[in-house]
Amino acid sequence: MHPHTENITRIVRKAAERAKLEQSRQPDKHVERDRTLRWPIDCTIGPGLEGAIACETKIGYVNGTRGDLVYRGHRIFDLCVHSTFEEVSYLLLKGKLPSRKQLDNFEKKLKSARHIPDTLRKLSSFPIEEMNSMSALRLGTNLMRQNLTWRDMIGHLDDERVIASDDDSQPMETTPWGESQAVYEFRKKREYARRNKENQDSARSLDSCIRLISGIATVTAAIARLQQGKLPIEPDPDLGHAANFLYMLNGTHPTDDEARIFDISLILHADHGMNASTFSSMVVASTMSDIYFSIGAGIAALNGPLHGGANEQVIKMLEKIGTPDAVPAWYVRARKKKQRVMGFGHRVYKVYDPRARILGPLADYAAQHNPKVAKLYETAKALEHEVIETIGKEKGIFPNVDFYSGLVYQGMGIPSEMFTPIFAVSRVAGWTARVMEYLKNNRIFRPRAIYTGAFDREYTHISQRGKHLHHRHEVTKKR
Ligand code: CMC
Repeated sequence: MHPHTENITRIVRKAAERAKLEQSRQPDKHVERDRTLRWPIDCTIGPGLEGAIACETKIGYVNGTRGDLVYRGHRIFDLCVHSTFEEVSYLLLKGKLPSRKQLDNFEKKLKSARHIPDTLRKLSSFPIEEMNSMSALRLGTNLMRQNLTWRDMIGHLDDERVIASDDDSQPMETTPWGESQAVYEFRKKREYARRNKENQDSARSLDSCIRLISGIATVTAAIARLQQGKLPIEPDPDLGHAANFLYMLNGTHPTDDEARIFDISLILHADHGMNASTFSSMVVASTMSDIYFSIGAGIAALNGPLHGGANEQVIKMLEKIGTPDAVPAWYVRARKKKQRVMGFGHRVYKVYDPRARILGPLADYAAQHNPKVAKLYETAKALEHEVIETIGKEKGIFPNVDFYSGLVYQGMGIPSEMFTPIFAVSRVAGWTARVMEYLKNNRIFRPRAIYTGAFDREYTHISQRGKHLHHRHEVTKKR
């Protein structure tokens, strides 16, 4: 399937074989064979909703004891060898691998949705160079909400309402069109779901997902360029999703290897169970807000250093450590300070993250062509050794997806502040798929908290508050 990048395929196959071998040594106790669920379900819940079951899904499965990841029944290793991000997005959204014709049609729609000139025009009018790139991406999603539901929408020219004398004019006396269209799309979806539950993934819902998958890529590339004082670049219809993103980012066509490595990275980040950003998207969707706000919530959650923000922090950490020789002393100090080692540990995986199994060797490959990455890669390997030998063995803390992804991106010359937005470029496939799936049987998310605060406190007038304390202070002074 990827004739020009056999060396990359070989690396992935080798990583997959090693992973399969190690997985076969782990007990497979987590696979739930009985799929006839009866709600309510008994489960043990820890802080951070650990162990809580929020919904049923057919989209993906994370096996934390074996270090396995499955999208719609397909193992991630097979998808990395054979598939593309476009095909994986189709798989996540539609439930099965597409036929040639279905994939062609899907790719055509994705390509068409890359063009969001009005969104980019509005985005360019903000001081993007002064903004954090994730905050700019969130802004971009809001602008997409305004525009993609209106002017940038596929086929919008057929819509008579779009006629306006001035591009910047909005009819002030009415609700902005983007707003009403976003609400309309969602209401429509709800009505549709009520009428025909089985067919919720109608063309209309799927189109919103496609617009977001392509749109977020275009906006992310534009943000990177605007931050460097450059103009956004028109997408190239001859390129696939991964190659086109790199082209829009750098302004030059990537090599086949670069495009394929980036494609694999997008596949690996596309979905991952009920992670914080996916859950955030679903929570917002469950209120019957709209898909753009839902995905915006996912972006906000992804930004945190304990989630998608870790990849950028990993590079900063490795740069600070400097060389492989400096690792042992740095690690002793970090442990003393009880500092978290970025890119390690996971709520679900207590073994090596399968995504890191592929990204590690790809970072090694990138290092062979780039001396700066080579130094950081050697430092990373030394750190991995220290961590696995200590808290790896004690607590099941191993490298996660973020440990090597940054090195892979750095090898392609991507600035580190774009690492987390790039995570979103991929994860939007999982976010949209899971939001759509959840909305089929929507129920607003509403967990409870255990109240451990006081009861029956008496209200003291503000003039009386602190008097007791003040009095005690006076007494101590006199003594
Ligand atoms: N470095 C050192 N110790 C760690 C680390 C780490 N990275 N992660 C967990 N631990 C220790 C933690 O101190 C605790 O020890 P103890 O039981 O002695 O108090 C134990 O392991 C369990 O930690 P936890 O905080 O209960 O684990 P969690 O499931 O709540 O947190 C995590 C998961 C990913 C937030 C955490 O491992 C972490 O902060 N990792 C570093 C940030 C990171 O790499 N995030 C990316 C996650 S993967 C991709 C993504 O989701 O975006």
